[in-house]
Amino acid sequence: MARRPARRVDASAAPLRQLATPEERLSRTGTAPDGGLRGLPRPLHAAAQVGLLSAVASAILRPTYRSGRPLLTNRHELPVLLNRRGLLGSAVEIGVRAGEYSAIILERWNGRLLISVDPWAEAPAGDYLDIANVDSATHEQLHAVARSRLARFGDRSEVWRMTGDDAAERISPRSLDFVYLDARHDRSSVEHDLATWLPRVRPGGVLAGHDYLDGDFPPHGDFGVRSAVDGYFAGAGLRVHATLADRPWVSWFVLIP
Ligand SMILES: C[S@@+](CC[C@H](N)C(=O)[O-])C[C@H]1O[C@@H](n2cnc3c(N)ncnc32)[C@H](O)[C@@H]1O
Repeated sequence: MARRPARRVDASAAPLRQLATPEERLSRTGTAPDGGLRGLPRPLHAAAQVGLLSAVASAILRPTYRSGRPLLTNRHELPVLLNRRGLLGSAVEIGVRAGEYSAIILERWNGRLLISVDPWAEAPAGDYLDIANVDSATHEQLHAVARSRLARFGDRSEVWRMTGDDAAERISPRSLDFVYLDARHDRSSVEHDLATWLPRVRPGGVLAGHDYLDGDFPPHGDFGVRSAVDGYFAGAGLRVHATLADRPWVSWFVLIP
C-alpha cells in the first residue's frame, strides 16, 4: 500500500453544495443552475451555463491557469491547464470506459503520453454499485471502442487493460505530470486510489478526478468522492479545487507542491 502524504488539512477548501434538483441527479452531463460559478461576476455565470458561450468563459478564465488558484469551467479545461503550466510529459487516466475523456485529454493536451487504464472486467454487483459495472460482453465492446477511439493518437496513447493497482506497480514514483481518477467512486476505493497515485505525481504536477460529490444517485451509483478527497487532503495545507460550471458531475483537482 502506498504511503499517505505527511501534509496538513486545508480547512478553507471551498465545499460544493449537494445536488439540488431531481434533474441534476439524472444527467451525468448536466450543467449547473445559476450560482454554480462561485466568486465570479454575474455575466460569467450565465455565459458558462450556455454551451456555446462556455468556451468564451473558459478563455476569459485561462489567465488564472498558471496561478495558485486556477478557475476552470469544466474538465475539458484540465488539459489546457496542463499546457499552460508546462506539464507536457506523461499522464494517466484510471477508469476509461469507452475512452471519451482520454480522447478529450489527447486532443487538447500537448503532452507526450497518456496511459489509459481500465480492467474492462465485470465485478460482483454488491461489490461495485455503479452504472459503469456492466457485464463482460459489454466490457469487451467498451474496450474495443476505447482502443479504436484512441488509435488515431498513435504512440501518444497507450491502453493498459488492468486495474489501477496493477498499473501503479509499473509506474515510477514522482514521474507523472497528471493523474485523473475516475474508477470506483465509493469513499474507500477513492481513498485507496489517492494513496496509490499521489506518490506517482511529480512535484508541480496535478492530481485530479471526476464526480466530486457524495451520495447515492441511482442509477449512477453510490458516491463518496468528495468526502474521500476532502478528508485525504485534510491537514495537508493543499487546496482542493473544483470545476465551476459542470455540476453535478464536477471534477476536483489539486496542484501538487
Ligand atoms: C465512470 S467509468 C470511466 C469514464 C471515463 N473516465 C470517461 O470519463 O470517459 C469508470 C470505469 O472505471 C473502471 N474501473 C473499475 N474498477 C477499476 C480499477 N480498479 N482500476 C481501473 N479502472 C477501474 C470501470 O471498468 C469503468 O470503465
